[in-house]
Amino acid sequence: MDQVLQLRHISYSYSSGNKALQDVSLSVNKGERIALMGANGSGKSSLFLVLTGIIMPNEGHYFLKGKSFRYCRRLRQELCKTIGFVFQDPEVQVVSNQVFEDVAFGLRNMRLSDEEVEYRTHQYLELTGILHLKDKLIHTLSYGQKKQVALAGVLAMEPEVILLDEPFAWLDYRQSKRLLTLLNQLTKMGKTLIVSTHDSEFANQWAQRAWVMKDGALEADLPTENLFNNAQLVDKLDIAPLVSKETPEVLSTH
Ligand SMILES: Nc1ncnc2c1ncn2[C@@H]1O[C@H](COP(=O)(O)OP(=O)(O)OP(=O)(O)O)[C@@H](O)[C@H]1O
Ligand SMILES: [Mg+2]
Repeated sequence: MDQVLQLRHISYSYSSGNKALQDVSLSVNKGERIALMGANGSGKSSLFLVLTGIIMPNEGHYFLKGKSFRYCRRLRQELCKTIGFVFQDPEVQVVSNQVFEDVAFGLRNMRLSDEEVEYRTHQYLELTGILHLKDKLIHTLSYGQKKQVALAGVLAMEPEVILLDEPFAWLDYRQSKRLLTLLNQLTKMGKTLIVSTHDSEFANQWAQRAWVMKDGALEADLPTENLFNNAQLVDKLDIAPLVSKETPEVLSTH
């Protein structure tokens, strides 16, 4: 299997002293669907920031398509070409005042022709179900709508690897269904996808593999069925059991 990314022995502390990642080693193969799970504050978003090179640990190695890098500007430039990242909070991702311009922003930076920018922006606004918002000002949108704008902007650049940080949070039923269809389409196109989520049902149904963070460590890295078939492990890792696997006593309290 083709390996796309690998981290070896990565630790990271924020300047405030918060130790967010502790000796994390992992690898990602082309075309994989990985669910990143773990309690609030366990280090999921920090891991995404490290994988995208936005935060740079002092120690550890990054392998991109088999090539070893120390954390440096060159690595970040290489990662920009390979990885698209949809932040947990769209407020930190949107850069323009208007929806169409925001989705077009990355494409213009890629120096595509005006026709190509127009075509792809339109295409991805449609795919993400927000074409009707194209002329709106960003500040007039709801939080969920802003999340879709950020998603459209990242997908439009057609990156090989896509990291989505809690993409379903704040989406309504119809947009969640649309996103699930989109994730399946992206898989068919051969994209590598890592999605952070607190939704065990989604992780179980969609992902092949689960990474579970606990206190900054990658506590488990295993096929999703091995995780969700092991009630003790699920409990120990502080993630929600599947509803269908909850004990009758738990169900009867609902
Ligand atoms: N900008 C920051 N400055 C200082 N500490 C931070 C910062 N961002 C995160 N942390 C800390 O790093 C640790 C990991 O946080 P992170 O946001 O990666 O967790 P998470 O698993 O994504 O949580 P959530 O499920 O709430 O999104 C926490 O202790 C958090 O307080
Ligand atoms: Mg987070």
